[in-house]
Amino acid sequence: MLTDTMEAALNEQIREEMYSSYLYLAMSAFFEGLDLRGMAKWMRLQAQEEFGHAMKLFDYIFERGGAVTLKALAEPQATWASPAAAFAAALAHERHITACIHRLVEQAAAERDHGTVNFLQWFVKEQVEEEASVEPIARRLEKIGDHMMGLLLIDRETGGRTED
Ligand code: FEO
Repeated sequence: MLTDTMEAALNEQIREEMYSSYLYLAMSAFFEGLDLRGMAKWMRLQAQEEFGHAMKLFDYIFERGGAVTLKALAEPQATWASPAAAFAAALAHERHITACIHRLVEQAAAERDHGTVNFLQWFVKEQVEEEASVEPIARRLEKIGDHMMGLLLIDRETGGRTED
């Protein structure tokens, strides 16, 4: 059985993951508008992946006899100054999510909820991968600036992503 505080914290993380999905979908729409279809696809798959993260928490709460309460989602930003700015925002967001997960682990450990500590290890590992997948794209976009050829190359590369 989850404590009320652990249940509330896991529900809050569902909101964070759902908002992540919403934010990346907004970024996908932004890239569609720029005709950067590869980056749009990359962000769309990322949005799907975030929905999956929310569902992992959803299922876990029920597995532990808890209740799921869905919270309101804020309206995500719709435009960014450049593709580089959008990916930089995505990286900053992933770092924020990593901090959220680490706080959850610390809370579960303080409550001696070993089941939840163990469950959250999947997210700890996932966040290492999430940051590692966004960071090189953000870094390269920052380097190329407005250079169209470089932008198209990265667009083609990100468009090769096949899994969420
Ligand atoms: Fe679910 Fe990208 O963190």
